[in-house]
Amino acid sequence: MIEQFDSFFTSRDGLVEVEPGIYSVIPSNLRKAHYDSIAWGYDKLVSNPLYNSFIWKTPVARYGEFAREVLVNSRNVLDIGCGSLSFTASAFSQNKVPTVLIDRSLAMLRLAKKNLVAVAGSIPDHILLLQADLFHLPFKPKSFDTVVSFGMYHLFAPEVHFLSAVASQWSGAGRLAINSLVRHSFPGNFALTMMSHRGIVSKPRTAAVFRSEVTTSVSADWHFSELGHWVEAVVGK
Ligand SMILES: C[S@@+](CC[C@H](N)C(=O)[O-])C[C@H]1O[C@@H](n2cnc3c(N)ncnc32)[C@H](O)[C@@H]1O
Repeated sequence: MIEQFDSFFTSRDGLVEVEPGIYSVIPSNLRKAHYDSIAWGYDKLVSNPLYNSFIWKTPVARYGEFAREVLVNSRNVLDIGCGSLSFTASAFSQNKVPTVLIDRSLAMLRLAKKNLVAVAGSIPDHILLLQADLFHLPFKPKSFDTVVSFGMYHLFAPEVHFLSAVASQWSGAGRLAINSLVRHSFPGNFALTMMSHRGIVSKPRTAAVFRSEVTTSVSADWHFSELGHWVEAVVGK
């Protein structure tokens, strides 16, 4: 029931159900997104254990574990750039609090729906799948206790102020959590450079630069953990 999410929205004007279980606040002529054409291949690639251990030096199971850790004791959740939920579908399904999952790409949201149905049999009532742009979110500021954004930070250059947009939704009561790919070793560094040249990710950062940018952008008691090419950053309890 969409009404249970009313308190998060500035206004529900423009909110439409574009297909069963997937909503949008993007006008119909602007609904195409960059990830639409690569959604299926992206999902297959990033969920491949060999790809993750060889390129990013990280076991694929870590992404889901990180989400589960962050969701403990959450009272409501916003995931910004939820993607296909390859790693997080079961964590979000089992965490029975109001949960809004937003992404710019309808193709990614369709995969998210498929993954939710695979783990829970249907889209759980406590979850809203919403097409929205993270830089024009339809929510009141600071309306979510737990705000997460996984695998997103490295897409954006510092001047885009991605983290400020994410943090603006966080009430400060629960956790704010992100992770980012950073430079670490071969062949991941080569892959990051190639992806950067193609405009898929921003200029690769080191872990130290990531930590510095994060603490400058949102002054808080951040806890950082590094694993291979990934740095996790969490604030709150
Ligand atoms: C690298 S994927 C990460 C997906 C997922 N969080 C994960 O960990 O697998 C990036 C996602 O961000 C979405 N995205 C990119 N720009 C966005 C924006 N401005 N607003 C909302 N979502 C966006 C893409 O559609 C894509 O699903």
